[in-house]
Amino acid sequence: MGIYLDNAATTPLDPEVFEAMKPFLLEDFGNPSSTHSHGRKIKAAIESSRKKIAELLNCTPGEIIFTSGGTEADNTIITCAVQTYNIKTIITSPIEHHAVLHTVENLCKESSIQLHMLDVDNKGHVDLDQLKNLLSKNSNSLVSLMHANNEIGNLLDIEYVGDLCEKHKAYFHSDTVQTVGHYRHDLKKIKVHGMAASAHKFHGPKGAGFMFIRKDKKITPLLLGGSQERNMRGGTENVYGIIGLTKALEIAYRDMDEHTRYIKDLKNRMIDKLLEHVPGVTFNGDSNDLDKSLYTVLNVSLPESEENDMILFNLDLQGISASGGSACSSGATLGSHVLVALNPESKRGAIRFSFSKFNTKEEVDLVVGRLKDLCKIPSL
Ligand SMILES: Cc1ncc(COP(=O)(O)O)c(C=O)c1O
Repeated sequence: MGIYLDNAATTPLDPEVFEAMKPFLLEDFGNPSSTHSHGRKIKAAIESSRKKIAELLNCTPGEIIFTSGGTEADNTIITCAVQTYNIKTIITSPIEHHAVLHTVENLCKESSIQLHMLDVDNKGHVDLDQLKNLLSKNSNSLVSLMHANNEIGNLLDIEYVGDLCEKHKAYFHSDTVQTVGHYRHDLKKIKVHGMAASAHKFHGPKGAGFMFIRKDKKITPLLLGGSQERNMRGGTENVYGIIGLTKALEIAYRDMDEHTRYIKDLKNRMIDKLLEHVPGVTFNGDSNDLDKSLYTVLNVSLPESEENDMILFNLDLQGISASGGSACSSGATLGSHVLVALNPESKRGAIRFSFSKFNTKEEVDLVVGRLKDLCKIPSL
């Protein structure tokens, strides 16, 4: 089956999750909005899922709204917070996911909303002093900053930004798609108003996710229709997706300490082996700093050469799947807007390796061995 090191793009479904979903794909098929017993049973399963997720995140069930994934959650929170609170200023960064960037660009194009892109340095650190300054000058702002970057793994001090936004009465949205299921979020402590999660990033099914909307900062719905999700999202629920999402999150929390340690060891091993066997290798963002970065992501650049530009393709030919940046829009060859924001002049390509609990040390060793054979080291 080859080696899969692209877990930031998506993770394989956990067989335990599949078992939990099965009854809802077969016998438990009722529509949760139906008032008869077939419907009521499913409605109860959805509400119990909501309650479990709220317990894990330390919030109330009414603050969890199921969506089709991270993109819908990001779109909904940003678009509807802007409408609900008559937002006049949006502050974000150039290294956000396109689910955020395209949404804010679209909103600002059609209105008089001011868009501020925070500066990032060549390690991908967002300028939080600039944020502070902008917040002190602009009332009624929306701040959208991701918790962990999906390409370089940089982590944001989400508690600090939450406190800053609270102080300046700004609406704070965070794209937490890469951290939900990998870190424990205590939503009593983190002052975020809206955040996004996606099940397929933590061994759940694709097409299922949720948004957290803080109860004292409610927003209007984006999808209008039936009164599902407490009138916050019209449309018949993705029942087996919600069941799978909840099971996947429960497993993630149950095994989090052990898996975090295990995955960190894999990443550390890859860093050490690359430094040993591939002269000239460098790491992008904070991804080689185990304490500062998302432990599932390592972003690597090889010495610049025509051969090295083809490495991802050659790895793929050998059954090794990694990514050249964000894989979410499939056009991996379009280049990465994140790496361009860090280093506009650089022509070096990058490979993102991202790990999960299903990877092994042997796979890491094999991939580094292949890179060593394939990589062209320019003579000095
Ligand atoms: C940071 C981030 N935000 C949003 C998304 C989109 O999530 P989904 O695939 O559930 O729509 C992704 C997916 O790659 C992501 O990594």
